[in-house]
Amino acid sequence: MPPYLAGREPEITLFRKLLRQHTIFENLLLTGLRGVGKTVLLESLKPIAFQEKWGWVGSDLSESASVSEATIAQRILTDLSLVSAGLTFRRSRKPGIGFSSPAAAVTTQRFDYHTLQRIYEETPGLIADKIKNALMLVWDAMSQQAQDRKGIIFAYDEAQTMCDHPQERQYPLSMLLDIFQSIQRTRVPFMLALTGLPTLVPKLIEARTYSERMFRVVSLSVLSNDECKDAITKPVEHMAHVPLYFTDESVETITNHSDGYPYFIQFICREVYDVWMNTPGPGTAVEHNLSVTMEGIIRKLDADFFAGRWVQLTDRQRELLTVVALIDSGDGEFSVQEVVAQSKVVLSNAFGPSHANQMLSALSQRGLIYQNRHGKYSFAVPLMGQFVRRQRGEAG
Ligand SMILES: Nc1ncnc2c1ncn2[C@@H]1O[C@H](COP(=O)(O)OP(=O)(O)O)[C@@H](O)[C@H]1O
Ligand SMILES: [Mg+2]
Repeated sequence: MPPYLAGREPEITLFRKLLRQHTIFENLLLTGLRGVGKTVLLESLKPIAFQEKWGWVGSDLSESASVSEATIAQRILTDLSLVSAGLTFRRSRKPGIGFSSPAAAVTTQRFDYHTLQRIYEETPGLIADKIKNALMLVWDAMSQQAQDRKGIIFAYDEAQTMCDHPQERQYPLSMLLDIFQSIQRTRVPFMLALTGLPTLVPKLIEARTYSERMFRVVSLSVLSNDECKDAITKPVEHMAHVPLYFTDESVETITNHSDGYPYFIQFICREVYDVWMNTPGPGTAVEHNLSVTMEGIIRKLDADFFAGRWVQLTDRQRELLTVVALIDSGDGEFSVQEVVAQSKVVLSNAFGPSHANQMLSALSQRGLIYQNRHGKYSFAVPLMGQFVRRQRGEAG
């Protein structure tokens, strides 16, 4: 977590609004590029949910619990058991048969993982039916035994890793959406809060028509200049043991180099801090040689953040990314046609349209670029264009 979370008030206000729904019509979906701050925002919504008397469970899906319907089901049961274990569940031994007294026929059990697992196994039908039943029974118990509880948030980070696999007849993503949509229709207040790369939205729509209506999609953007300033200066403000401050000029330099991405702000600030603390002598050296320092920091950023991704590419893929980085609008959106046209200008062996298409989809799979709803492409890694241009400069 950053020492100070800059900006993001509108997103937090929106989340509070979503918490006020009695019947859940809208779930939260946070999307954005790497390093824009999805994970830390999701994490900072948790205490707000607690404050508003909601439960919160969830996990990071990047460890792929999401390969099959059964693994997603286990994920949900495990998460659910964390909030249900304090509740009890009255269960009849032999439903409806015999003359034993009602008291003897009913046992009271804790709603722990094993009970949930048993309910799951004993419910007839598809995996989705089993999970829905478990979820509804838990809400039944919760609404009676923990009456001030408003609902539960199921928060899943890196949800773009979830995928349907038609060849294997596994539809974990469609199933997850189906489960939540149908329990929400029966007024069970269990809400999804997903985060993911921008590829998540088309994926959801592909999995289930109209699923975008289930979500309030919030695309997290970079921080504004004022928010950058806060992110840079607030962590060291009023801290007696931090003999450092950032001048307006250094704030501007860092803001420009980071392009507003919180990840880069944090990276640069940490380096600046270390360099400064290692500089002998009194005074605030930061502003004096920040531009000198900056060169080294950018070099370190290239080595730490970008190089690993770059070395895994083939020569031809690097050429294609270089072409993209040299398109005027390449840091924003670009089309296949633009790639083809630009490659004729800068390469001796230009790309044809079908080859460019093929390469772009290979690079999408590597997570370096992505295709948006309108068929245009963008870099999926922030500031990648600048990195590629620096590489080109160094290679002469
Ligand atoms: N609003 C913010 N203010 C200050 N720092 C932030 C903010 N959002 C993110 N950060 C910092 O930026 C880095 C990247 O954030 P993270 O949530 O991991 O991004 P993402 O999940 O989108 O890849 C983290 O180190 C985090 O502390
Ligand atoms: Mg993240």
